[in-house]
Amino acid sequence: MEIHIETEDTNCRDDPIMKIMVKKGKIEEEPAEIIVLSHYEDLKELKGSKHVVDVALNGAITELVESKDLKGELNEIKVIYTHGQIPSKRVLLVGLGKKEELTLDNVRQASGKAIVHIRDMGIKSFVTPLHGSDELASDIVDLAQALVEGCILGVYQFTEYKTEDLDKIKEIDEFILIEEDESKISEIQQGVKVGEIIANATCFTRDLVNYPANKGTPTFLAEKAKQISDKLGLKCKILSEKDMKKLGMGALLGVAQGSDQPAKFIILEHNADKEDLDTFVLCGKGITFDSGGISIKPAKGMEEMKTDMAGAATVLGVMKAVGELELPLRVVSLIPATENLPSGKAYKPGDILKSYSGKTIEVINTDAEGRLILADALGYAAKYKPKAVIDIATLTGACVVALGHHATGMMGTDDELMEKISQTGKSTNERVWQLPLFKEYYEQIKSDIADVKNVGGRPAGAITAAAFLSKFIEGCPWVHLDIAGTEWTEKAKPYTPKGATGVGVRLLIHFLRNISEN
Ligand code: BES
Ligand code: MN
Ligand code: ZN
Repeated sequence: MEIHIETEDTNCRDDPIMKIMVKKGKIEEEPAEIIVLSHYEDLKELKGSKHVVDVALNGAITELVESKDLKGELNEIKVIYTHGQIPSKRVLLVGLGKKEELTLDNVRQASGKAIVHIRDMGIKSFVTPLHGSDELASDIVDLAQALVEGCILGVYQFTEYKTEDLDKIKEIDEFILIEEDESKISEIQQGVKVGEIIANATCFTRDLVNYPANKGTPTFLAEKAKQISDKLGLKCKILSEKDMKKLGMGALLGVAQGSDQPAKFIILEHNADKEDLDTFVLCGKGITFDSGGISIKPAKGMEEMKTDMAGAATVLGVMKAVGELELPLRVVSLIPATENLPSGKAYKPGDILKSYSGKTIEVINTDAEGRLILADALGYAAKYKPKAVIDIATLTGACVVALGHHATGMMGTDDELMEKISQTGKSTNERVWQLPLFKEYYEQIKSDIADVKNVGGRPAGAITAAAFLSKFIEGCPWVHLDIAGTEWTEKAKPYTPKGATGVGVRLLIHFLRNISEN
């Protein structure tokens, strides 16, 4: 069943685009285009480097603060010129908000805002110290990681399809993280390395989601998985439609019927042969374009459905990072990938599909396709005897109605697991919110002639979708994450530009790292 796929040479973001260096020294003595200093709200007294720079600049920072031109509010930015009074040409001051309310995410945000500001000024390099280290002194590694994440995620841009005015695209080439105290350097380097791996993995995921569907086909996702496996030594198996037929993956094949693009079932495994390690299975919805099929969607906004493989992209990003971090866990990812299109061969409302687990499904609406392809993946997951199965999917518009764009919907069968994910959501600021899976909801997906139907009517659409998925989980702890509202943003945020957010990558990596450390 092993299939070899020729890999096309595309930008896989394997190599960091921006160089990050750690250096021992004093920021006020560093020759630079611009140095970055941070400031807290309601803070009058200037200490350390800020004080030294202020004195050299004849009190310019004091004046900014006293005149309230710099309040120190989170993500506020001011740039001043030094006129040769210190070796750096400019100083950028960025607000971190209230000192006592400082969080790692504030550091991530302020770093993102600062670097984007510098980039948009047309500057290509800068020097910065750690921010927040006087406040969160014990977490040097985490602070460096947060700074690097904010910077890399903040300057992300998807420019592959631009052919005009390329000279106007601005990029930061490198930056220096500077630290006076020798004893902190190695911890900073450690944080930089982890931050680079996690942020680059998130950018990799964003790329996959941003690609148009004429590029991002199921075969393309399979190629990307193969590239990750070649580079990091993961095990990769790509099942063809013929293989799926043999295995009885009738739900995935049903959805794939209407498309001329061959469907793929992608299996990537980290520490594949170390069966003594705890196993976690990640399933990602890989609908590379969702037209709705015969139950076709309205034309308006349909282009957004190129992102219906965001779950798959997240899982691939996580695997890339898990491999690079060499996590001591066995992590398996399962990605059912296909288009959902109408055609003379397409599956139809009323059709009955037989899933991998043997359960039969009555199709009420061909636009509820994500749960069908995931049914086969979740059924397949059982063979790994996992400690947990987590699926991540752009599953329902109903989840967007319920939670909007500020939280990922979470449902599952294991409270302890959900509590852990919830906590991780807080620390990464990729927040999740649990919805209930009461047994009464299952009434809505009962079919008269099959084991289950794929739609449960309008009430609680996000929940009945999850209820449907749970029918295909064979006894292992399971959590479902609905990212329909969070995988994309129409509004740029401090470290999340417009477009694909890469949501779930940081969440799941932090979750897995926490488990591997405890
Ligand atoms: N991919 C969509 C869900 C979606 C909607 C993702 C908006 C991102 C933004 C999914 O396949 C879908 O079409 N769901 C239907 C289900 C319905 C037919 C029961 C929906 O939510 O309308
Ligand atoms: Mn759909
Ligand atoms: Zn869909």
